Amino acid sequence: MTPGSPPSQNGLVAAYSSLVMEHFEHPRNAGEMPDPDGEATTANPVCGDRMRVMIRVDNGVVADVRWQTRGCPPAIATSSLASEMVRGWPLDRVESLTREVIAEAIGGLPKDKVHCSVLAADALRAAVADYRARHPAV
Ligand code: FES
Repeated sequence: MTPGSPPSQNGLVAAYSSLVMEHFEHPRNAGEMPDPDGEATTANPVCGDRMRVMIRVDNGVVADVRWQTRGCPPAIATSSLASEMVRGWPLDRVESLTREVIAEAIGGLPKDKVHCSVLAADALRAAVADYRARHPAV
């Protein structure tokens, strides 16, 4: 870049779905959960953004979810959407959750932002793994 030239516009003109914008502007289930049954923090291997997920489990089913994400708008939006999506799911269904399912559920993501949905999928699966480690008989 030569002195005085504008910064790169990469990523700033991405077209997000209305659902991405809705969840980004009004995130659901964000925040802390006291004494969660399972929790995990994961980092996006592409950018280093991080997500912490806490789950409450009742009778083998996800009863509640809270999350804290430090990341871009799609990371916040997919964290919010995924937290709503998995409520009521049995644990084995959460374990098979993929970033592609989340990206599709939120109306698609720009090609260079698909990796952002990996945070929610990875963190939720890791929170279930933590729950299973704490409750080996379940
Ligand atoms: Fe890091 Fe989107 S750029 S999660």
